[in-house]
Amino acid sequence: MNILVTGSNGQLGNEMRVLSENHPKHRYFFTDVVSAEDIYVLDITDKAAVSAFVAEHAIDLIVNCAAYTNVDKAEEDEATAMKINADALSVLGSQGVKVIHISTDYVFSGDEHLPCKESDPVAPRTAYGRTKYAGEKNLLGVCPEAVILRTAWLYSSFGNNFVKTMIRLGHEKETLGVVFDQIGTPTYAADLAQAVFTVIECSMWHPGIYHFTNEGVCSWYDFTIAIHELAGITKCQVSPILSEEYAYRTPRPHYSVLDKSKFKKTFNVTIPYWLDGLKRCVKLLNC
Ligand SMILES: NC(=O)c1ccc[n+]([C@@H]2O[C@H](COP(=O)([O-])OP(=O)(O)OC[C@H]3O[C@@H](n4cnc5c(N)ncnc54)[C@H](OP(=O)(O)O)[C@@H]3O)[C@@H](O)[C@H]2O)c1
Repeated sequence: MNILVTGSNGQLGNEMRVLSENHPKHRYFFTDVVSAEDIYVLDITDKAAVSAFVAEHAIDLIVNCAAYTNVDKAEEDEATAMKINADALSVLGSQGVKVIHISTDYVFSGDEHLPCKESDPVAPRTAYGRTKYAGEKNLLGVCPEAVILRTAWLYSSFGNNFVKTMIRLGHEKETLGVVFDQIGTPTYAADLAQAVFTVIECSMWHPGIYHFTNEGVCSWYDFTIAIHELAGITKCQVSPILSEEYAYRTPRPHYSVLDKSKFKKTFNVTIPYWLDGLKRCVKLLNC
């Protein structure tokens, strides 16, 4: 297949580039909004450019890794987030090709105490969550055969993320307070990229919404302790704090664990435990 990957300069997009080397039977077209080495320029909000790109390269499948992911900035500029996270999905979905799209746990309220299933009611509480949910609806409206993978707490050796920030702060600070009343599942973007390839390589196309994160649960505090242990950081004292003690600009979900049963059953796979993914990532970061 000729596969168009958008947002290739982001965390997931870069992991897709790495993993594509294990799947040489396809031809890949890696794109992003700004140019970088081996990456074509393609703005997913530019309808004419997307249609021309799909036609010129005879694209069979779009993997949409592009998004407006800054949760705080989205509160101030929901219109731009809506263009990228929602309007562009109507464009990508109407190209007459298969689409795999990535969505988020932020479509849920985060008030639950049990892992969320795909069929659970959504109730986004943030601008980012609203735009991502609108994107899901727009995509399924024009392309009911699309596959949507909702994920959460992504990190990677590429880009900026919580793991890299905690390693930096662990070297800079003697004490650090990290919230322990927000529970979720850290997810290594390399494992999400593997899940995307599981969908691509499956002998049958199974359209629909799926939840995919690593296995297990923890708080941001537990996650930080693990990051510091693996990175060999010993001189920073990490303390658990409540969300109300941290000056969040945007409310964060208290419980955003996703139930992955549907993905595991449909594609007959097991998923790595979050600590296993973290070990592989920190090793790559060479700590
Ligand atoms: N990060 C998380 O914790 C998390 C959690 C749940 C779900 N997700 C979802 O997972 C997916 C991948 O996330 P990620 O962390 O890999 O995101 P990321 O690192 O922010 O990468 C997104 C990429 O898309 C690019 N982009 C922005 N606007 C674009 C446009 N108009 N056209 C083409 N490319 C554009 C970005 O460029 P610029 O950087 O220049 O804007 C960036 O390179 C997203 O759908 C995200 O919503 C992420």
